[in-house]
Amino acid sequence: MTDELWRPYDRMAAEFLAHAEDGAYNAHYDRPTVLELLGDVSGLRVLDAGCGPGLYAEELLARGAEVIGFDASTAMVDLARSRVGDRAEIRVARLDAPIPYPDDSVDVVLCALAIHYVADRHATFAELHRVLRPGGAVVLSTQHPTTDWLRKGGSYFDRTLETDAWSMLSGRHEVQFWREPLSDLCAAATDSGFVIQRLVEPRAPEIMRDRWPAEYDKLAQRPGFLALRLLAVP
Ligand SMILES: C[S@@+](CC[C@H](N)C(=O)[O-])C[C@H]1O[C@@H](n2cnc3c(N)ncnc32)[C@H](O)[C@@H]1O
Repeated sequence: MTDELWRPYDRMAAEFLAHAEDGAYNAHYDRPTVLELLGDVSGLRVLDAGCGPGLYAEELLARGAEVIGFDASTAMVDLARSRVGDRAEIRVARLDAPIPYPDDSVDVVLCALAIHYVADRHATFAELHRVLRPGGAVVLSTQHPTTDWLRKGGSYFDRTLETDAWSMLSGRHEVQFWREPLSDLCAAATDSGFVIQRLVEPRAPEIMRDRWPAEYDKLAQRPGFLALRLLAVP
C-alpha cells in the first residue's frame, strides 16, 4: 500500500535500532547535523515526529527538553517507550493524517528521516504548523533528492515512488519512499506557513574516514541527506 510505507519498520524495528545507535549515516551523519540545527532545546516542548526507536527522544531529554513523540510503527513506538519510559509520552500516530496534539502546543518539531515516506507533504506541513506555537520551528532531515535521482535515474522532476532493498539479518526488506524535486519539498513547507531559516547538506565527519572509508568517499562526492530548519510564521 502506498500510504503505509512504514510497514517494513514494523518488521525490522529492533535491527534498525541496532544499526542506528552507532551506524555511519544515522549516528554520525544525520544526528549531529540535526542536533546542531535544533540548537538549545532546554526547557522547550519538542515533538519528535516519526520518532522511530527513540534515539533522538533520549538525546533531547538529556538536553533538557520536554519530549513528546509519535511513530506510525507500533514496533518502533514500543522500542521508544522502553527507551524513555515515563519521561516522554510516545504515541502511535501518522505523519500523513491529522496528528493528535492541540493547536499551538509545541515549541519545536523534529522530523528526522521520515518525511520521504509521506505522499502529501503539504498536508503534513500544515499539521506541523497547526501544532506549533507561532515562531516555533521545524527541524527535519530527509534523503537528498538529487542523490536519490542519481541512484534511481529517470527525470529528476518526476514525483516517483522508489524502492530500496535493505539486507538485514532477518532477510531482505523492500523499503519504499517518495522522491520529489527539492523545490517541491521547499514549496510544501513555504506554502504551509514556514520560512526556510537554514538548509544544510552535511559533509561526512572525520570519524567516518577511518571507520567507514567507502561511505566517507561517497559522501565526499555527493550528499546523502539534507536538513532544513523552518520557522513557523502566522
Ligand atoms: C529512518 S526511520 C527514522 C527514525 C527516527 N526519526 C530516527 O532518525 O532515528 C523512519 C521512521 O519513520 C516512520 N514513519 C514512516 N512513515 C511514517 C508515517 N506516515 N507516519 C509516522 N511515522 C512514519 C517509520 O516507522 C520509522 O520509524
